[in-house]
Parts: sequence; C-alpha cells; structure tokens
Amino acid sequence: MKFTVAVDGPAAAGKGTVARAIAAEFGFAHLDTGLLYRAVGRRVLEGVPPEIAASTLRHGDVVRDGLRAPEVSRAASEVAALPDVRQALVEFQREFAGRDGGAVLDGRDIGTVICPDAEAKLFVIASDATRAHRRWLELTAAGHDVTEAGVLDDIRERDARDAGRRDAPMKAASDAVVLDTSDLDVEEAAAFALEVVRTRLEGREGV
Ligand code: CDP
Repeated sequence: MKFTVAVDGPAAAGKGTVARAIAAEFGFAHLDTGLLYRAVGRRVLEGVPPEIAASTLRHGDVVRDGLRAPEVSRAASEVAALPDVRQALVEFQREFAGRDGGAVLDGRDIGTVICPDAEAKLFVIASDATRAHRRWLELTAAGHDVTEAGVLDDIRERDARDAGRRDAPMKAASDAVVLDTSDLDVEEAAAFALEVVRTRLEGREGV
C-alpha cells in the first residue's frame, strides 16, 4: 500500500512530534527531511561546496551529532535556498514517500513540491513565542548556551528566508489541514493529527 503523509510548517512548530506520532500509530516509515538540509549545511560549514555536499550526501552525514546546533540550523536554511541543492535531494525524498507500507515526511515543501499528491497533508504552526520557548528548552537541554530572545530571532530569520525563497518556498498546500499547536500539549497535537490521517485512510479504503 502506498500512503503518504506530508507534514510541513515553520521552525519548531511541532512537525517532528506530529510526524513521529503518525508513524508510530500507523506503522509508517518517517523521514525528517530537515535533517537532509542540516547535513548539507554542516558539510558546507566544513568547507564542502553546497552542490557537492548535497549530491554526495550519505547516510552517515544525517546521523551525525550536532545537526541541531543553531549554526547548523542557519547553514541549513541558507543551503536550502539553492535550487541545485534542493534538486539533488528530490529523488531520495520521493522514493522514500512512495515506499510500500506508508510514509510520513516532515519539512517545508512536502505537500507542495515533493509530494503534491500526498494522501494526507498537515501544516503545523504555533505562535512565535511558543516556538521560541520550545526550541530554547530543547537547545539548553542539549547543552547549548542560548537565550530565548536569541532563539526567537533565529527562527524568525529562518522562517523569512524559507518562506521568501524562489524555489520551493515554505507554504501550506491548498489542501493541507492547518494544525495550530500553540495551546496544545503533545498528546492533543498528536490526537488531532492522527484523526486527520485516520479519516483519509478510511476514505481511501472505501474507494
Ligand atoms: O526543526 P526545525 O523546524 O527548526 O527545522 P528543520 O525541519 O530541521 O529544517 C531545517 C532547515 O532546512 C529549514 O529552516 C529549511 O531551510 C530547510 N528545509 C527545507 O528547506 N525543506 C525541507 N523540506 C526541510 C527543511
């Protein structure tokens, strides 16, 4: 069975949490596409030209430590604006999405560019203050010395770059269900997302 779930949205809105819950509930494979861009950004910080970094990306690059560091987030967003980098990553993502047994991908352009025919699409948002607070908690827990105000500036800058780029800008697909997690805890956000996917799955089985 092919069944693809696209989960898009701005930085630190809760896409990963929602995508993991969907994968666990329905037994789908999960791909955090942000990690691909983070891995490319990381190699670029080490001096590799962006197009080379993207076209020679290996599994080992996306499971390295430190990919969530603030400087890697920024580098990821910068390389993500380059059409050659995005192009180099399209095929892998589409193959993953089409795998037998179902797949959920989270990112910025999954429902619009990578998988416009995805069976279920979610666009996850949250207020800037909520997102900054959550990301600050994650980063400080991981040992990064950051302030909440600094994290807020970083995610705003990244969102503006991601939404403003010419190639595959971050935006909600016209058929995406918007999920605002500002006032929801993890269980509530997951429950909402699971219901959206369940409805689509049932609709499909009835065809
Ligand atoms: O976890 P967070 O939401 O902060 O970011 P991420 O999903 O790991 O993505 C890091 C960066 O990669 C984003 O700021 C985008 O610039 C880029 N990205 C993208 O352009 N397209 C995707 N499908 C996924 C990520």
